[in-house]
Amino acid sequence: MFASQFPPEVYPPSKRRQWLGALAASLLPVAGQAGGYPALTLRFSHVVARETPKGLAASHFRDLVALRSGGRIAIAVFPNGELYGDDDEMQALQLGAVDLVAPSLSKFGRIGLPEFELFDLPFLFDDLSAVRHITQGHLGQQLFQGLTRQGLVGLGYFDNGFKQMSANRPLLKPADYVGLRMRVQASRVIAGQMRALGAHPVTLAFSETRRALQAGVVDGTENPVSNFWTQSMHQVQTDLSLTHHGYLGYAVVTHQRLWQYLSATDRQLISQALQEALVYANQIADRRNDQALVALRLANTTRIHTLTETQRLQLRLAVQPVHDALARRIGGNWVQALREALALRTV
Ligand code: LMR
Repeated sequence: MFASQFPPEVYPPSKRRQWLGALAASLLPVAGQAGGYPALTLRFSHVVARETPKGLAASHFRDLVALRSGGRIAIAVFPNGELYGDDDEMQALQLGAVDLVAPSLSKFGRIGLPEFELFDLPFLFDDLSAVRHITQGHLGQQLFQGLTRQGLVGLGYFDNGFKQMSANRPLLKPADYVGLRMRVQASRVIAGQMRALGAHPVTLAFSETRRALQAGVVDGTENPVSNFWTQSMHQVQTDLSLTHHGYLGYAVVTHQRLWQYLSATDRQLISQALQEALVYANQIADRRNDQALVALRLANTTRIHTLTETQRLQLRLAVQPVHDALARRIGGNWVQALREALALRTV
């Protein structure tokens, strides 16, 4: 049995009840070896809704692991930042308070891995197959090797899709952004992108975003439509502009201590189930975003704007300086390697 090494005191008071629940779950196996309880319970924490690509992938992974292990291994999924949010999930993982998280690639910079912010460069990828060329290739593996610096192990990448911009006005041309306070994830590249447009970036946890929009603490934000819809941001934003300006994807990570503790057979079982769940996530990501857009149109609360080719080009030109300005933060060698890998793909 793998039980957390850390006492309840390390948990924020509001989380203690959930922690006790999780601990109880992880202790069950001892009592249950003979009674059909799981011998091992792994806690998988994430910040989005169950119906998002990430939420659905997590559930699928849980089901596959339960099935293939005959109920011996359980994955307890905590969605919606119930257990940990953006500000503490990585730390919780490093402390062993959770076993799996799936943060967006934009959230690795602040734990000392700025090279992951590569993926935030605006207008970098033409489509998801270009993204996969990187994540499934040599560069994706090299990025994962860097995780060991933080005691982490990368188990796989997956997509949500392309981000759109929202506010209480249409965002069709660069001038429309001037002076807006735009919520961003904790990525210097995304902050730079907003500054390049004349907006003020405000870094906020995902779980606080809707409330901040409602209270007028921020004026707008960016996200794929499935996140926009499942957080009911349409109730607090009058306009969604379909900019497709940047990519949002995730990495599933665990901590080395757990990974080394597991038997080779269990590691194999978990990896295999996860790879299948991530393939599933990639298959449904586009569809969930399309479905959310249909639902959004039906809800009729938010005007949806499609940019013309010229407007999109203007946006692209306005954010282009971010590529050079942030290359040093990301690491020039990473930017160069990515450009070369993308160029090779097209020849
Ligand atoms: C965000 O913070 O906007 C996203 O990273 C949330 C998520 O995990 O999709």
